Amino acid sequence: MAEYIPHEHDVLVIGAGGAGLRAAVEASAAGARVAVISKSLLGKAHTVMAEGGIAAAMGNVDDRDNWRVHFADTMRGGQYLSNWRMAELHAKEAPARVRELEAWGALFDRTRDGQILQRNFGGHRYPRLAHVGDRTGLEMIRTLQDHGIHLGLDVFMEHTIVRLLKHGEQIAGAFGYDRERGRFHVFRAKAVVLATGGIGRAYKITSNSWEYTGDGHSLAYHAGAALMDMEFVQFHPTGMIWPPSVRGILVTEGVRGEGGVLRNRNGERFMFKDIPPLYVSQTANSEEEGWRYTQGDKEARRPPELLTRDHVARCIRREVREGRGSPHGGVFLDIAWIKERIPNATEYIKKKLPSMYHQFKQLADIDITQEPMEVGPTTHYMMGGVRVGADSQMSDVPGLFAAGECAAGLHGANRLGGNSLSDLLVFGQRAGEFAAAFAKKNSFGNVESADLKSAEDWALQPFDQKGSDNPYAVQHKLQEVMQDLVGIVRQEGEMIQALERLRELKAASERVSVDGNREYNGGWHTALDLHHLITVSEIVTRAALERKESRGAHFRDDFPEKDKQFGSFNIVARKGVDGSMQFSREPIPPMRADLQQIIEEMK
Ligand code: FUM
Repeated sequence: MAEYIPHEHDVLVIGAGGAGLRAAVEASAAGARVAVISKSLLGKAHTVMAEGGIAAAMGNVDDRDNWRVHFADTMRGGQYLSNWRMAELHAKEAPARVRELEAWGALFDRTRDGQILQRNFGGHRYPRLAHVGDRTGLEMIRTLQDHGIHLGLDVFMEHTIVRLLKHGEQIAGAFGYDRERGRFHVFRAKAVVLATGGIGRAYKITSNSWEYTGDGHSLAYHAGAALMDMEFVQFHPTGMIWPPSVRGILVTEGVRGEGGVLRNRNGERFMFKDIPPLYVSQTANSEEEGWRYTQGDKEARRPPELLTRDHVARCIRREVREGRGSPHGGVFLDIAWIKERIPNATEYIKKKLPSMYHQFKQLADIDITQEPMEVGPTTHYMMGGVRVGADSQMSDVPGLFAAGECAAGLHGANRLGGNSLSDLLVFGQRAGEFAAAFAKKNSFGNVESADLKSAEDWALQPFDQKGSDNPYAVQHKLQEVMQDLVGIVRQEGEMIQALERLRELKAASERVSVDGNREYNGGWHTALDLHHLITVSEIVTRAALERKESRGAHFRDDFPEKDKQFGSFNIVARKGVDGSMQFSREPIPPMRADLQQIIEEMK
C-alpha cells in the first residue's frame, strides 16, 4: 500500500454534518477509535440549513404534546410510507437528544419560565420546534463539533471518498483523496457510517451547497446496499428567487411559524384555496384564526401556510403557472404585516429571524421587517436513501451503517420540517452506538490491492482522457434535466426523456477530461462527483416512473391521485450482479397494534 496514505480506525464516519458528528461522538464515547471525513471544512454542513428548529415533543409550550402526537404527525406527513418503528423511536427519543445537546452547551431560546422554547412548523400539530432564533442547525453543529473534538475524534477535512472497500460481503473501509494535494488515502475500518447528506446538487435550484452530490447514496448502492424511497425529493416551498445569484437559498419555514403569510400578486392568501382532505379538520378557515394559532391560542387551528411542504410548494407553483406570481416568478412571503398586530414587530422579527433579516438585507436589499420577500420552491431534502435496520441503522452490507439524510425510512413520502434535525440526532446516536458495537465484535477485513488499484485508475481517468466534455458543463446539463423533467410535477413522457438524456450524460461523464495537476483541482473533483450525481439521478427517475400515483413529495400529472395499492410498499433499488439497476416493490410490514391505535385515535 506504499503509494496510498494508510489509516486505521474502528469506526469511519463519512460526513461531518449533524448525523455524522452525532454518530462519531457516540462511537467514540463507546471506546471506538473514530475518524470523521468531511468533504469540506468542519462546520460547513447542510444541517445548518435546518434553520427553524429541532422537532421534539417536549410539551414546553403546549402540554398536550407528547411522543404519540409526534409519531402520528410524522406518519401522516410521510403519507404512511414511513418505517413505523423508526417513527416511534424518533418520536420517543428526540426530547432526550435535545436535552443532551443542551447539556453539551447548545443555547436554545427560552420560554418565560426558562424552559426550551418551541415554535410552530408545518405539519406539526403543536408548537414543537426547539430553536435558536433561525440558526438552530448552526448551533447544533457548533455544539457537536466542540463536544466531538474533546473526545479526540480524528477529523479529515477536505477529503472525499470515491469508493467503499469490502472484504467478501463485509465492509472493510473506504478509498478517497485529499482535495488539497490530490493524494490517495486508504481508510481501513471495521465499521463505516455514511452520513453524507443529500443529493440537492442534482437540481439547478437548490438550498444545498456544492458538497451534496449524493455521495453516500451512490457509494452504498455500488457497494451492494439497497436504496429505498428515492422518488421522494423534497422541494422546500420557500427559497430566495431574486437576484439570480442567490436563487435557491433557503428562507426558513420559521418565517411562517412566526406568522408570515404567503400572497400572490393580487394580494390573496392563496393557501386558503386548497386544503387537502387529510388536513381540513386541523386547518384554520379564516385569517384571524390562523393568526391566533401562531399566537398560541390553543382553540385555534393552524394557518394553511403551515400545511406540509409538498402541498405548499405545489400551490406556489400553481399560482406562478396561472399568472398570479411575483415579478421574478415566485410569490410573496410577508412577515412585515405583523406590524398591524404587535407593537414591537420590527424588533420581534429581528430577534426571532436574525439570519433571514441579514440574508435579505445583504443579498437582496430587502428589509423584511418592512416589505415582503419574493420566494419560490427550492430542492432541499432527499427522503430516500440507504435502507437500514430501524434500531441499528445498519444497511444490507454488514458493517455499513447510514444515518441522517442519506438513510431512508423515517420520512416516507414527505418529511416534516424540523424532523431532519431530530432524525440526525436520534439516528446518528443509534448508528454510532451500533457501529461501535459491530467494530468490537469484528476484526479488520482485508483490503485487496487490486481493489485499490482499480479505484485509483478510475479516479485518475479524467487526466488521461482527451475528450472534449467538460465536467462543469455535464453537471450543468444534468441539473437542467432533473429540474425540468423530474421536478415538482412529473409525467411519464418527460421522465423517459430524462432517462435518455441521463444516458447521454453518463457517457459524457465517462469521457470528461481535466487539465492541470491533482492539487486543488476543482474540475477533477467535479468529474468524480458526476459519477454519484448520475447514479442518484437515474435512480430517482426510475423510481419516480415506477410509482404511478401522486403521494407526498412525488406528484404526477398523469396520475394525480393517491392509489391505495401504492401505499402498501416501498420502492427499493439495488445494483444487479450484471451491474444493471433493479427495482422491487417491498411490502411495508403491518404496523404494531398499539401504534396503529395511536394513529386511529389521532385521526
Ligand atoms: O425551513 C427550515 O428552517 C428548514 C428546516 C428543515 O428542513 O427541517
